[in-house]
Amino acid sequence: GYDAAPFVPEKADLRRLREAAAGCRGCPLYRDATQTVFGTGEPSARVVLVGEQPGDQEDRQGEPFVGPAGGVLKRALAEAGIDPAEAYVTNAVKHFKFERQERGKRRIHKAPGLREISACKPWLASELRLIDPEVVVALGATAGKSLLGPSFRVTQQRGVPLPLPVPDGAGEGGQEGEGAGALVATIHPSAVLRADAAARAEAYAGLVSDLGVAARLLR
Ligand code: URA
Ligand code: SF4
Repeated sequence: GYDAAPFVPEKADLRRLREAAAGCRGCPLYRDATQTVFGTGEPSARVVLVGEQPGDQEDRQGEPFVGPAGGVLKRALAEAGIDPAEAYVTNAVKHFKFERQERGKRRIHKAPGLREISACKPWLASELRLIDPEVVVALGATAGKSLLGPSFRVTQQRGVPLPLPVPDGAGEGGQEGEGAGALVATIHPSAVLRADAAARAEAYAGLVSDLGVAARLLR
């Protein structure tokens, strides 16, 4: 099956991890995408924000959340009182999955499937192990499924602190089960952009409110 694990170096720091991820062929998504989009931020970050996958702009620029969804996220973080300097930003899936429009060059985002989410999980698990943040924020269903499993539902689990599971073999001394960190799930910022005019303000307020739950865990 698809799996990034053979590409993930042992005992690497974040820089080495990022370099290795550039050569990942753990699933077919690397073929059509421009480049791997790894996480960015300080290893000392207190909060890790996990998105779905890079979008069109992120695929071109090689950095997460630099497109329209990133604009929404940055505003919402500021309103919730989360300092972007304290946040490490990454995605559950590190390559852009898209479909080409029949005519023309537009690339249409496609949601990653469970196989791709699980293939890419070793990168996210390594980022979380190295950073060991106090709070992880799952932005949307894909991040939630990656972190909590395929039965995750945003509508049912958003906006409350949940225990953050430690991935298998990730703990010191082989400890497994639940770690010390908390997880807060919310909607994906692009859901705010997709919402029609009547629903947009409420969707955005919900995002800010859920991020506020994460912010209070940092105090
Ligand atoms: N959407 C995401 O989930 N991640 C990005 O990096 C950009 C858009
Ligand atoms: Fe590797 Fe993830 Fe890219 Fe697939 S999406 S090739 S697992 S980095």
